Amino acid sequence: MSNEFLKDQNIHVRQIMTSSGHPLPLPLWKEDEIFQSIMEELKSNTMVDLIRCFMLYQLAIQAAPIPGNVAEVGVWKGGTAKLLEIAFESRGCKKNIHLFDTFSGLPEISADQDRHFHKKGDFNDASLDYVRTLFQNSHNIHIYPGIFPESAKALRSAGFCFVHIDVDLYKSALDACSFFYEKLAPGGIMAFDDYGFPTCPGVKTAVDEFFSRDHRERPIYLPTGQCIILKR
Ligand SMILES: C[S@@+](CC[C@H](N)C(=O)[O-])C[C@H]1O[C@@H](n2cnc3c(N)ncnc32)[C@H](O)[C@@H]1O
Repeated sequence: MSNEFLKDQNIHVRQIMTSSGHPLPLPLWKEDEIFQSIMEELKSNTMVDLIRCFMLYQLAIQAAPIPGNVAEVGVWKGGTAKLLEIAFESRGCKKNIHLFDTFSGLPEISADQDRHFHKKGDFNDASLDYVRTLFQNSHNIHIYPGIFPESAKALRSAGFCFVHIDVDLYKSALDACSFFYEKLAPGGIMAFDDYGFPTCPGVKTAVDEFFSRDHRERPIYLPTGQCIILKR
């Protein structure tokens, strides 16, 4: 690439090349106006960083034409749930979006590996009322307070096109795999927020355990730390 060409384009080499001379990927999230305005609206309600949110947004858009409901387990203050709502709406889809959380923080910690990093009640600074207010004008949003999967009994025979799992814990992640896998439509997506984070080792263990059994799908690891399952 000629430096003259870059100069014409008003691009500085440092912006597009690493110090070892390899090209950097473009920050395309900065060019997506819908995504930028969504993030402005919800950034105070999510602990998921901008790039993971961009992945989630793109995955939701990918799943939009597939028939079925949408779900999120691990809502906290509703930030990523709002992102999902707006992403589906941006494709003209008014899908039913089912949201699961205790709204009083993490449930009992049952796996030893989770105990190093988490305790019961972590993330208890969100409330059901707060999230209900956030979605007060959204008639397609359904909120299920309580411990998942007990809180999901009413959806035993529902079908899904997209599921976001952001639960930090082994048992919650494993329960989510068991509950949603069979209900996911072909082409549907399960996205796990915490899979590659050393502070959430139970999530990777649960996903790897579940998908190394009889299932043909394998977790696809993203450099953001998320992983996705694409249902065949
Ligand atoms: C990291 S927070 C979710 C963050 C959120 N997605 C955001 O946009 O920032 C994890 C949430 O998972 C919830 N959680 C974990 N396991 C659960 C379970 N089995 N049932 C219900 N909620 C659970 C916790 O209450 C907590 O609010």
